[in-house]
Amino acid sequence: MTPVLVRTRAELATARAGPSRPVVLVPTMGALHAGHRGLLRRARELAGESGSVVVSIFVNPMQFGPGEDLDRYPRTLDEDLAVCAANGVAVVFAPATAEIYRQAPAVTIDPGPAGEVFEGEFRPGFFTGVLTVVIKLLGLVRPDIAVFGEKDAQQLALVRAMAADLDLGVEIAAVPTVRDRDGLAVSSRNRYLSSAERATALYLSRALGAARAQVSSGFPQAITAAQRILGDAAAAEPPLKVDYLALADPVTFAPLDDDHAGQAVLAVAAWVGSTRLIDNVKLEFMPRITA
Ligand code: PAJ
Repeated sequence: MTPVLVRTRAELATARAGPSRPVVLVPTMGALHAGHRGLLRRARELAGESGSVVVSIFVNPMQFGPGEDLDRYPRTLDEDLAVCAANGVAVVFAPATAEIYRQAPAVTIDPGPAGEVFEGEFRPGFFTGVLTVVIKLLGLVRPDIAVFGEKDAQQLALVRAMAADLDLGVEIAAVPTVRDRDGLAVSSRNRYLSSAERATALYLSRALGAARAQVSSGFPQAITAAQRILGDAAAAEPPLKVDYLALADPVTFAPLDDDHAGQAVLAVAAWVGSTRLIDNVKLEFMPRITA
């Protein structure tokens, strides 16, 4: 299937008249990789025989802070279209910045307290930028379902919260994190890494794996296991520089207490050279038995 490439709101409106329901939207910033392909496959399943998949490709300036990688963020539209064609996508919406932001929005989305911790603390304004563009894309495409990756667990939690709290009438579907064979979570930013940096980046998934292996021993042991590996990574060459390693409630993304029982997300963010990487793993803590 060759997807229809639309660049403007008007072209999108015309293309929207065609696709049959359900319409499943996969919002992306392009440079499509195996992680995105996982989302496309899930979107295709959700669309079923009768429905159609729409992919948006838009590098959203509003979610990049000053000094972040907006200018060097990879832009690979031709390859992206080939990936979409191979994955049964009906429409690719790839607007210019001025098409999405005809004027700087005076009204933006406040992500609430869950948007101020973890990624929100280290990237001020990031989630306002993400949620504002996501609600605009939902408004323009008007899908029945939108698909997001667990790789960006806090983003997923906030999109779900926005959809529920603002009654957007769209179903949010989630796809597990796709990893390379060596465990590194696939990311558009991995292409910035030299081979030595990539070797250091592997400590991230290793640390999360160590926590998972300790989950039956409890919360402090799991964190300590991950911290130990990140300590080794700090001494690697080049070193890993951790922004945060923390357990959060998977739904609210509130930080969790030591005696937490039930589901949690262990999230990590770190720098290798000038590249910032994030990863997370879901953990299930058993209630502690006290005599
Ligand atoms: P982008 O980084 O392009 O990611 C698009 C979607 O792909 C997100 O839902 C993200 O969680 C998912 N994804 C990325 N890597 C993945 C992996 N290894 N496994 C599973 N899913 C993965 O996230 C964004 O763009 C933007 O913030 C966006 C939502 C498009 C708003 O601008």
